[in-house]
Amino acid sequence: MKIRAAVLEEFGEPLVVREVDLAEPRAGEVLVRLVACGVCHTDLYTASGVDPSGYAPTVLGHEGAGIVERVGPDVTSVQEGDHVVTLFSPQCRECEHCRSGRTNLCLAIREQQNRGFLPDGTTRLSRDGEPIRHFMGTSTFAEYTVMPEIALAKVRRDAPLEAACLFACGLSTGLGAAMYTAAVRPGSTCVVFGAGMVGLGAVAGCRLQGAERIICVDLSEDRLEMARAQGATDGWTAGEDIVARIQEATRGFGADYTFEATGRVAVMRQAVEAARMGWGLCTIAGVAGKGETLDVIPRWLIQGRRIAGSSFGGVHGRDQVPELVDRYMAGEIDVDAFISHRITLNEVNRGFELMEAQDGIRSVIQFA
Ligand code: CU
Ligand code: ZN
Repeated sequence: MKIRAAVLEEFGEPLVVREVDLAEPRAGEVLVRLVACGVCHTDLYTASGVDPSGYAPTVLGHEGAGIVERVGPDVTSVQEGDHVVTLFSPQCRECEHCRSGRTNLCLAIREQQNRGFLPDGTTRLSRDGEPIRHFMGTSTFAEYTVMPEIALAKVRRDAPLEAACLFACGLSTGLGAAMYTAAVRPGSTCVVFGAGMVGLGAVAGCRLQGAERIICVDLSEDRLEMARAQGATDGWTAGEDIVARIQEATRGFGADYTFEATGRVAVMRQAVEAARMGWGLCTIAGVAGKGETLDVIPRWLIQGRRIAGSSFGGVHGRDQVPELVDRYMAGEIDVDAFISHRITLNEVNRGFELMEAQDGIRSVIQFA
């Protein structure tokens, strides 16, 4: 079928919205009609060409939500009409990692996905017979996409899809960092560095876990205000003195849990040092550039501080994204506050510009 999609043709150039071909779903695959898709930093990072593992041409986009249009052979977990959230981090429920229950890093389709192919090593996207590679296994800057069923979370039908799409990446990453990776205990003191989509999600996650004090650190007063609305008890301006200030506020010990959600290694170091001696856990949810290193004084670790990395918030997508959407529908998570701009697919490059200007939290593409 012919679909419209935002194609990354050349790194560093605007995406080109044009017609491409999308082939029918094969075994284990599903055709999804996109209804909404968030514009995320990872899309921009890849489009910029800075990521050495990026490739072109490809159809970007990974924060999608939509409706199952058709299923291929052997698909059992979703059917036509189901509402789904796309997962760049799949859950096959069969691989060694999925069965362990100890990680959400499913091994099933990793290699092919990283190279831009569906699990059988081919693409469904093409133009004039030339294959176009898939991005993050999702390629949701498009009217339709074909994805493996193990990469689709089925969510309740009464959940607005423009809100549900944020659970496909940034929001779940933040929520999950607090709820699953750190598993914040009630009554704790938490510090969240960065009040973008991931940091605000972490603030909300700390609140849902029953944290007593939640300090959010950012440079923008507007974003700190949003953090307060998500449950932060304090909003502090980022700076050199922030570790000392956190220690002062915790009788010299540091915070029970810290979260890094800026992707900047200098901030990661602050997040490690602001964690409490004895048991403080620093969770790194921000993504640093390839090749960057984190500078940590070993003595801080000997004193009982720990560092954990969190990919997609440790969320087991097919099991837990529907649960998070349920909590949104129960009024426990204010997702609508994060949607700052609604744009069309044709305006996707404007979504990038708004993100670079730090204008709002999320632009969401709405498909007609
Ligand atoms: Cu993302
Ligand atoms: Zn798996």
